[in-house]
Amino acid sequence: MSKDQKERTISGFSRLNKEEKMRWVADHFSGDADAFVRTLEAFRHPDAEVQRILDGFSENTLANFPMPFGVAPNFLINGKVYCVPMVIEESSVVAAASAAAKFWLERGGFHTRVIDTRKVGQVHFTWHGRKEALEAAFPELEKRLRKNAAYLTANMEKRGGGILAVHLRDMTAHEPGYYQLMVEFETCDSMGANFINSVLEDFGRTLKQFALDWPHFCDEERELSVIMAILSNYTPDCLVRAWVECPVEALGNCGADMDAATFAERFRKAVRIAQIDPHRATTHNKGIFNGVDAVVIATGNDFRAVEACGHTWAARSGQYRSLSNCTVENGTFRFELELPLAVGTVGGLTRLHPLARLSLEMLGNPSAHELMQIIGAVGLAQNFAAVRSLVTTGIQKGHMKMHLLNILNHLGASEHEIKEAFRHFADHVVSFASVRQFLEGLRQRSETVK
Ligand code: MEV
Repeated sequence: MSKDQKERTISGFSRLNKEEKMRWVADHFSGDADAFVRTLEAFRHPDAEVQRILDGFSENTLANFPMPFGVAPNFLINGKVYCVPMVIEESSVVAAASAAAKFWLERGGFHTRVIDTRKVGQVHFTWHGRKEALEAAFPELEKRLRKNAAYLTANMEKRGGGILAVHLRDMTAHEPGYYQLMVEFETCDSMGANFINSVLEDFGRTLKQFALDWPHFCDEERELSVIMAILSNYTPDCLVRAWVECPVEALGNCGADMDAATFAERFRKAVRIAQIDPHRATTHNKGIFNGVDAVVIATGNDFRAVEACGHTWAARSGQYRSLSNCTVENGTFRFELELPLAVGTVGGLTRLHPLARLSLEMLGNPSAHELMQIIGAVGLAQNFAAVRSLVTTGIQKGHMKMHLLNILNHLGASEHEIKEAFRHFADHVVSFASVRQFLEGLRQRSETVK
């Protein structure tokens, strides 16, 4: 490493206090250290107690990174109206969700059903003994695994959850000596990551000890190595279904002066294309996650886990496909989404983050079960809005309105200039260059008038 580069490294950074950390980063990684620190300070919360809570979520925190916290009202889900909190930085997403919610509000709303809420975790281990001996020992092993972990599972059992099943999986066809304990859990209203991982690590210890103690193993079979014990974010049995349906004619005029039957057929084809083609499927599903992630984040849940799971589920046939499906049959338009969703409404950030707590309050403090259904409905609404735009007017019309505002703000436009720009760009193409040119023209004209 060069001397320059060496000077940009540090040991013991985490032990510096926040001011020292800011200063160190500013001195080594910014062009203007004072301005850098000033910006960071401006984004720290004025209430020291709130800042303390936020700092507690992560490490080496310097400031906060605000994201827009919006709402999509009018979500009718299983006959109940929700105002859904959404945290997202992409323009048009909340507007699209709101428009889709309103559209379906007048057509019976969203229907949802939780198919199952089973979560899973694995203990991966290697063992080079006789497979039959391990299989014969498994019933006793399972008893001991459950008994030893009872101190961890007692509370969850009181809440109606716990360990549902333990399976031994022979993976030796893939890797010599590789086996798994595949464990199924019910974690009630919590996402359950800590609970599951604690139980799995306990299982790992019991497993090792079992191999040492079990009288029917020979000496060579006492050696068992636990490679890792960790939940799986792929939870195909923690699944929600959301759907909307109405007579085709009730779809009405869906934009671009398209009649309902033409719209329904174009929409169905667009979804079918996302079933067939992975390039389109990826973008199509991204549109679904625009809505899903926004609610997952607003409620303090783990969006990386939800995304990873959803994409694996989308590829379960061996090819990456659309998560949603559309049929137009016997005069009925039906649009449906099935998505595995492991979320919680207790534990983690859900009650710690002041805005996550507020989001849950706004949703009526739902159970995890209910939250899965709300998120499923929002994912479907988002997908409906995107595909509706795509097969009618195209998405740029809606997007560009917000994009225009972002460009105008970037160029420091005044309120009057923003108003004028919106009037002008109602029928002109928006681009950074065209907006800058328009503003320059406007400013020149007003100079001349002065
Ligand atoms: C943009 O964030 C999402 C869309 O591209 C989704 C889609 O194409 O279906 C509009």
